[in-house]
Amino acid sequence: MNTDREILKRVYTAKTKEELMDAYNEWAKDYDTDLSEFGYEAPLESVSKFLKYVSPDQNVIDAGCGTGLVGSMLKEHGFRGIHGLDYSVEMLQVAEGKSVYEKLYHADLTLPLEIEADIYDALICVGTFTYGHVSADAFDSLVKIVKPGGHIVFTVREGAYDDMNYRKKMVQMEHDSLWELKELTDAVYFSGEEITCKVCVYKVL
Ligand SMILES: C[S@@+](CC[C@H](N)C(=O)[O-])C[C@H]1O[C@@H](n2cnc3c(N)ncnc32)[C@H](O)[C@@H]1O
Repeated sequence: MNTDREILKRVYTAKTKEELMDAYNEWAKDYDTDLSEFGYEAPLESVSKFLKYVSPDQNVIDAGCGTGLVGSMLKEHGFRGIHGLDYSVEMLQVAEGKSVYEKLYHADLTLPLEIEADIYDALICVGTFTYGHVSADAFDSLVKIVKPGGHIVFTVREGAYDDMNYRKKMVQMEHDSLWELKELTDAVYFSGEEITCKVCVYKVL
């Protein structure tokens, strides 16, 4: 367990993908316990929004699924056959052990995905648009694999929203008619540290 929160600093200040993956690979086995300790509320808020737009019979993917916290919640709400995607092998191994996902992809969201275009009805991505993680260009990869009319729900950590140009890219994609904003709300990210995030809901056009 990492009660000193050193691990959070490590993932948010990672300078390269390798540094970030080393941190997640080492953290994987303690991740769930630590995040419960840190008051990580982002999955709860995001799943609650997801349920407003997506029904359990739909074909969904959890991008940046990590150890499967989000997938487990979706399963509790009746979702089956969920797909997951992450770039950390060890995080994926923990996720696999939960038997929540029908299929897990080891893939990098910052590169073009080798997944068929327009195959998912909906996508959820929690805790992945933040400092030291994926750039705003990853939004293009997400939109590509979701069907027109499908929904994408994701969090963007406060601060990073502007610092990492997420807001700029999101608005640009609205102007380019790639997606339509349905909801953008502020929510608690880590309750222990009073850190908030945006929970964003888009419809793919
Ligand atoms: C804070 S965790 C969130 C995990 C899970 N969604 C949750 O809420 O518990 C961020 C996840 O993003 C993944 N990640 C970071 N960069 C990535 C990339 N380029 N491609 C795919 N996944 C990535 C990490 O491996 C990690 O599992």
